Amino acid sequence: MPGSLILVDLSTNLGRRQFANPVFVASGTFGYGFEVERLADISKLGAIVTKSVTLEPRTGNPPPRIVETTGGMINSIGLANVGVERYISDYLPQLQGGGADFIMNIAGSTSDEYLKVLEKVEAISTDIAGYEINISCPNVSEGGMEFGVSADQTARLTRRLRKRTERLLIMKLSPNVTDITAIGLAAQDNGADAVSAINTLVGMSIDINSQRPDIYRTLGGLSGPAIKPVGIASVYKLARKLSIPIIGIGGITSAEDVIEYTLAGASAVQIGTANFRDPACGINIINDLRSRLEDSNIDRYQSLIGQVKTYQ
Ligand SMILES: Cc1cc2nc3c(=O)[nH]c(=O)nc-3n(C[C@H](O)[C@H](O)[C@H](O)COP(=O)(O)O)c2cc1C
Repeated sequence: MPGSLILVDLSTNLGRRQFANPVFVASGTFGYGFEVERLADISKLGAIVTKSVTLEPRTGNPPPRIVETTGGMINSIGLANVGVERYISDYLPQLQGGGADFIMNIAGSTSDEYLKVLEKVEAISTDIAGYEINISCPNVSEGGMEFGVSADQTARLTRRLRKRTERLLIMKLSPNVTDITAIGLAAQDNGADAVSAINTLVGMSIDINSQRPDIYRTLGGLSGPAIKPVGIASVYKLARKLSIPIIGIGGITSAEDVIEYTLAGASAVQIGTANFRDPACGINIINDLRSRLEDSNIDRYQSLIGQVKTYQ
């Protein structure tokens, strides 16, 4: 009966780790997490995925590096970040006080670089929940997406990282490939606990007055509601082939979007671009999701995973 009082269990499982709810915030769209603390109660989020961290600090690409497009935005930040040493000394301590589970996103130009970053964090005492490995950044000339477009490279990198950590290991996949399931399987077969999909799609826009691209580096990464159907399709395809959990990303702005991703096969989701409009949107979405499930008499979020009813 709609409106009846049921207690909804929003918890979800990503292999070796359970989270209080499935709504996470996506890397690069929520800073390092604690900056947003004044604007929203970050402890309510399922998890915070922090901005990609590399071995050395990076200033990123020259501006302009963000432009709004129909139904989304194009960015070419180029992995600007403080580097792993400062992440450990200045950022991790603040994150740990925030009461939220957090996942560290790592990027690199070579597989050694990914490994060194992970090893530096493994060498200290921290309550970090796990790692998301960005093998799908379209905005750097070396590394990043090179790994994510090759099943062999994904396999090798996943295997090397797996050997170095007992923590949750998530490989973040690119939609800019012919067959995302081949890359997902390479991650799964070499020890990843979960995959997240998708990172941004390669996009471009041009100012017709100046005849210049809107982005300094010409091409950038498209995100926001415009890419949601690509994200849903990617999650659906992955869910049919993989047995590990999938984290759905791309264009989420509402609890309905979360349910759509879940029906397609996601065990959790991440919200990216929508945070720029309202950093508290993740928390509102969690509350809406709870009410939505309550109204439909669904008492366990996880019972919806992969329940899409296809025609064939
Ligand atoms: C400004 C901006 C910066 C981003 N930086 C990162 C990053 O550092 N590492 C990463 O793995 N993904 C990064 N992403 C990709 C997002 O985490 C997410 O995969 C993508 O934006 C799709 O989700 P959305 O449509 O909800 O934004 C970035 C996205 C945006 C818009």
